[in-house]
This record gives sequence, structure tokens and C-alpha cells, in this order.
Amino acid sequence: MNVVMINFPKIENILGNIAVIENETIRFEIKRVYYLYDIPSSSIRGGHSHKKLQQVLIAISGSFDVVLKDGKTEKKVTLNKPDIGLLIENNIWRELENFSSGAVCLVLASEVYDENDYLRNYNEFLKSKK
Ligand code: TYD
Repeated sequence: MNVVMINFPKIENILGNIAVIENETIRFEIKRVYYLYDIPSSSIRGGHSHKKLQQVLIAISGSFDVVLKDGKTEKKVTLNKPDIGLLIENNIWRELENFSSGAVCLVLASEVYDENDYLRNYNEFLKSKK
């Protein structure tokens, strides 16, 4: 599986840094932004794939792990830098776990929310890959 990490351009300053995200930097046009916060450290989030939606995840604060599965191989990525995003393309199963205290996961999504775009059953996901 090809894991795509995106380095956002930074404006570094002793008074504090700025990281900039534009549609051109990621591979799709952003239609929706949301973030996960107040996440208990024992939480396992995700547990689904999307038929169409792509997204970029960013650990805006703290850290967490993302497990990606394409039906054949599996990769685990730790996100812990606010200027690095993980691109998750459509038809990839993801699980988010091992959240640090105070972790905030920013999500940039290519589509508006649509429950019909989700596959939430892993066996159905595997079937869809055949
Ligand atoms: P889900 O996408 O499964 O969260 P995660 O992948 O972070 O574990 O969404 C959790 C619940 O929230 C689910 O019932 C759908 C709902 N939801 C919305 O209503 N609107 C949204 O924009 C999102 C992302 C989720």
C-alpha cells in the first residue's frame, strides 16, 4: 500500500509557527472540515471505508495512530506533527487509536457527510475489494 504523507508549507517564527493548507496542496477540493477532540485514550475510532470520499488527517495537537488496510496489506502510521497530513483515498479501511491526552484530529474531506458513502462492515469491505 502506498501511504501518502503531505508536508504543509510552514512559516516559522520564534513567536510561533503557521502551517498553510490550500486545495492545491492536497489532492482534492475540500468540501468539509471537522475535528475530533476530547477523545478518551482508549477510543478506537474509524472502523470504516468510504466509497467515494477522500480525506486528509492531521494531528493538530497531540498524537494518534492510524491503521490503514487495503484488503491485502496493512500499514500503521503515527501522526504527531501539526504540519503533516495523511491522505486516505477512497476504498481504504481505517482505524484511529492510541490517542494521546489532548489529541485533536483535524479532518479535511472531499465530500459532504453521507452515511451511504460508508462501508462499516469489514467483511463487506473485503468483498468490495474483489
Ligand atoms: P464516523 O465518521 O464514523 O466517525 P469516526 O470515523 O471518527 O469514528 O462518525 C461518527 C458518527 O458521527 C456517525 O454516527 C456519523 C456521525 N457524523 C455526522 O453526523 N456528520 C459528520 O460530518 C461526521 C463526520 C459524522
